[in-house]
Amino acid sequence: MSTTFIGLKLGSTTTCIYKSGNGIVLKEASLIAMPTNPKIKEPKAIGNDAKKLIGKTGENLTVYSPISNGIIQYDELAVLMLKGFLKKVFPVKSFGENIKAVLCVPLGLSASEKKQFEIACFKSGIADVFIVPDIISFALGSGIDIKSETSAFIVNIGGDTTNIASVSNLSIINGYNLNIGGSIINIAIAKFIEENHGLHISAEQAERLKIEICSLFENYSASTTIVGIDKNTNLKQEISITATELYPIINHYYSKIAEMIGSVIQSSDPEIVADISRNGIYFYGGASHIVGLEKFMFDKLKFKINISDNQYSNLLGIAELIKYPQMLKKIIKNN
Ligand SMILES: Nc1ncnc2c1ncn2[C@@H]1O[C@H](COP(=O)(O)OP(=O)(O)OP(=O)(O)O)[C@@H](O)[C@H]1O
Ligand SMILES: [Mg+2]
Repeated sequence: MSTTFIGLKLGSTTTCIYKSGNGIVLKEASLIAMPTNPKIKEPKAIGNDAKKLIGKTGENLTVYSPISNGIIQYDELAVLMLKGFLKKVFPVKSFGENIKAVLCVPLGLSASEKKQFEIACFKSGIADVFIVPDIISFALGSGIDIKSETSAFIVNIGGDTTNIASVSNLSIINGYNLNIGGSIINIAIAKFIEENHGLHISAEQAERLKIEICSLFENYSASTTIVGIDKNTNLKQEISITATELYPIINHYYSKIAEMIGSVIQSSDPEIVADISRNGIYFYGGASHIVGLEKFMFDKLKFKINISDNQYSNLLGIAELIKYPQMLKKIIKNN
């Protein structure tokens, strides 16, 4: 029987898969579109195809996020979604082929939440699953030294959560989980547009605005247009939006993240603070790509700010672990 290892990231917003021998083979939205009739168990679409159906679903479909706040919210839907993704990655699964997975998860999961991930993997056809903290796999994939006594201070700003941790000797020394990420900002932008322009837009449209024009620079002169549904007339209407009017929202949420980072650093041992002074803070995750993060965080925290430009570092770290099972064993034992 042949075994194929995969690296799996099942995020609240994004799912990514690494396949040994092939590299990164999948990046899709963590979404599934189901018929509203509960008797029909066949998904209408998964991943990016399901994302396209948001707002166009009428009465017959609902688009779900099976994973939110970093944990599985809908077990059955998580299995259906993962099965669909695996089918894309293994279009013709050879007879007797065994899939084993290394899954990276956020910090602070309880034993039963980890078990839920494990069971979802088994039910999706994965024979064995090893769970590691996402932050550790990111560090390994980025070449950050976490194998020695020297600590690395790492922040992952994702879709639903922000994880903050210092890591050394392949172990999380202290880790914190904050329920703020890109999604809550999208919702706040949509609410602002409704209250100030009388226009309904979806969270996905708000995300486009955020990525297109928003930044952490107060006087950023970007602008764009957006089409929504006028609250009073129920008709489509196009309006112009500037980065300046959305700035207070962006500033509010990223300030909260900076405050939390500051208080974690304040409560850290002097050796850890000395390591941060030397090497700075490492940021990664989708929402760390907001324009202006480096200056914003430096002004607030006064440490060097490193932002990862490789969105797959965590999966590259898993690739290392697949190559070095002794290291994988140690990480599982330590965390
Ligand atoms: N250029 C950008 N500027 C600002 N935000 C961005 C940018 N690109 C992506 N994002 C945000 O990143 C978020 C997704 O990040 P990521 O894929 O790391 O999340 P996740 O790992 O699925 O979620 P979680 O870690 O919370 O489970 C989305 O909310 C998205 O809006
Ligand atoms: Mg994540």
